[in-house]
Amino acid sequence: MKIQVIQGPNLNMLGIREQNIYGPMKLEDIHKQMKAFADQSGVEIDFFQSNLEGELVDKIQESLGVTDGIIINAAAYTHTSIAIADAIKAVSLPTIEVHISNIHARENFRKKSLLAPVCAGQISGFGPFSYHLAMVAMIQILNEIKSIKDQQNQSAS
Ligand code: DQA
Repeated sequence: MKIQVIQGPNLNMLGIREQNIYGPMKLEDIHKQMKAFADQSGVEIDFFQSNLEGELVDKIQESLGVTDGIIINAAAYTHTSIAIADAIKAVSLPTIEVHISNIHARENFRKKSLLAPVCAGQISGFGPFSYHLAMVAMIQILNEIKSIKDQQNQSAS
């Protein structure tokens, strides 16, 4: 079981940017915690961050056939990117949208997510713990998919 984590623009500035909103934790520390939980859970995990919309689209496309599910914080592109939404739809991998802050409690322009309709679900507002919750949800989804496939294989044989 493999999970691809995709981080959008300015998330490389965590620990420096707007600490009153995003807290003091750096992205690499969030990833260390996620890796520790993945190891505990027997799951492979890979991390990618870019400030460029096209690179995020490329990474989503490259995930096809390589990974089982995507956890994405597209940051500001959440609210603007039809291209990222289309890429998620195109690969049709289970995808979970994550936000550190509660986007529904902030400016109006952040309340709209173009990605939410193409994701399995959205986790928003729990600080860095949002990523942990997303991993728990993704492992659950992937286990459900696996047990459905196992049942289908059993009844076919
Ligand atoms: C964010 C929320 C977005 O609105 C913002 O542009 C970000 C981070 C979050 O994790 O809370 O860069 O995705």
